[in-house]
Amino acid sequence: MIGIFDSGVGGLTVTRWVRQVIPEASIIYVADQGYAPYGNRPQWQLQQRCDHIADWLIGQGAHLIVIACNTATAHCIDNLRDRLNVPIVGVEPGIKPAALGSQKGSIGILATENTLASERYRTLAAKFNPETLIINQPCPGLADAVEQGPDHPDIHRLLHTYVPGLAAAGIDRLVLGCTHYPLVADQIQALAGDQITLIDTGKAIAAEVKRRYQARPEPSVVRLITTAEDDRLKGLVQSWPELSLAFAGASFETAEDSLL
Ligand code: DGL
Repeated sequence: MIGIFDSGVGGLTVTRWVRQVIPEASIIYVADQGYAPYGNRPQWQLQQRCDHIADWLIGQGAHLIVIACNTATAHCIDNLRDRLNVPIVGVEPGIKPAALGSQKGSIGILATENTLASERYRTLAAKFNPETLIINQPCPGLADAVEQGPDHPDIHRLLHTYVPGLAAAGIDRLVLGCTHYPLVADQIQALAGDQITLIDTGKAIAAEVKRRYQARPEPSVVRLITTAEDDRLKGLVQSWPELSLAFAGASFETAEDSLL
C-alpha cells in the first residue's frame, strides 16, 4: 500500500498521476486539512505533523510514503528518512527541468513562503544559480484559497497579484512549486501568456513512485482521509473537475482521533 499526504487537496494532483501509472496499487491519502495551510506553519509543527501522519500511514500498512507537498518535503523529508525504514518519495520545485529547458536563462518559481525559505530549497536553487536567473515569488494565501474551491474569489485576486509581475520579468519557464497550484494552472497560464511554459513535476514524481513501488497482493482501493472536523474533503474534491473525475471511485473518510 502507498501512503500519501499533503496539507489538503494539493497532493491529489500528484496522486492522480500515481493512479495512472500504478492503477493496481492500494492508496491511502491523508489531507491534513485540520492543520492546513502548511505554507506558514513553524518548522516544529510541520515536523510534528509529518512524523505523526507518516507513522500512522505505516501503522495502516503503507510500505512506501509519498510526501505530496513541497513545503513538508522541504522541511521534513530528511528527518523522516533518518527515522523510518520505508522508502520515502518527496516533491520539490522543478527548478532543474525549468533551468534546462529555459532559452532565456530566466525562470520564475511560485511556492509557499516556507518552501522558499527552506535550506533545502536554497541548496537546490544554488545548483542552477547564477547561470539561470531564478526569480522566487512566494504566494501566501494561494493554497488556502484553492482549499476553498474553484469559485473562491481569492484565487483570482491572488493570482493577479503574483503572476503578472513575474511574467513581465522576462522569464520563459514558470515552476508550479506547490502541489495545489496545478489546479489553477489554466488561470496561471492565461495570466503568464503563451510564451511561458509551466513546469509541474507531478508526472515525474509518479514515475519515481512507480520505480520504488513493490507490488503486493492487495485490492486496488483508494481511501481519502481528512483531518478536518467535518468531511469537507469530499465536497472539495467534487468541486474541482479534474479531481472529481480522477477520484470518482474513491472512498472518503474523516480521520480517527489517533490521526489528529
Ligand atoms: N501543497 C503544499 C505544497 O506543495 C502545501 C500548501 C500549504 O498548505 O500551504 O507546498
